[in-house]
Amino acid sequence: MKFKTHRFQSIDSTSKYALEQYEALENFAVICAGKQTAGKGRKGRVWVSTDTGNLYFSLLIKTPPVQTTEMSGIPQLMALAVHQTLLQTGVKNSWIKWPNDVFVDDRKICGILCESRFTGSKIAALVIGVGINVNASQKSLALIDTPATSMLNETLSDTPYDIDELLHFILNIFAESFEQWLQPAKKASFAREWRAASRLIGKVVKLIDADTEIIGTVRDFSVNGEIILQTDKGPQKFCYGDLSLQMI
Ligand code: BTN
Repeated sequence: MKFKTHRFQSIDSTSKYALEQYEALENFAVICAGKQTAGKGRKGRVWVSTDTGNLYFSLLIKTPPVQTTEMSGIPQLMALAVHQTLLQTGVKNSWIKWPNDVFVDDRKICGILCESRFTGSKIAALVIGVGINVNASQKSLALIDTPATSMLNETLSDTPYDIDELLHFILNIFAESFEQWLQPAKKASFAREWRAASRLIGKVVKLIDADTEIIGTVRDFSVNGEIILQTDKGPQKFCYGDLSLQMI
């Protein structure tokens, strides 16, 4: 996997650019920006990106060699790459909140937005947009409307993280896992990795998926990144949704 990085000092949204330009861009193009003026989050939310010193990038994968049923595994491989990077760069207590948010205890440190373009029934482009609070100060974190933290805030270091180094670190881990995940014999190990990175096994959660709300106990994750819930109708698999923990 050969990445080609395109850097912008400022852009509206790296994911918007990748989706608009995917035909002209290379496979595995990485669009990276110092700041974004219109950062997008999941469910139409805003991703606050006006601060420099954080990581904002989107990875384009053209015609990914997967079935649509397997697609949700790809952004989760990215969540795993971010989680592993955090642990290897001094941030403790990182975990993945399915589908692909990365938290440090109860504060979010990274969000991932996965968008696609189809030609007919074929996936023409997958864009994985990643936002990581890297060097954000406590003051700017306080402006985010949900509890948030940054790498610098967690390590209490005086030296800011190098954004480019961090990007390379994450992309290298992602590339290795993606290649392994595409091999049927190696795929099974990823369900184990997601289980180990999750704090949700055995917890009762509410999953909001389009118009439905399902309550169930988290049993496991599939090799394709689906969550398996024990519900009153038996075990059910979901590939997408927003989770909230139930206080039962
Ligand atoms: C979320 O948790 O809601 C997902 C946030 C994703 C933010 C990243 S920052 C880089 C890329 N460009 C965007 O506009 N959004 C994603």
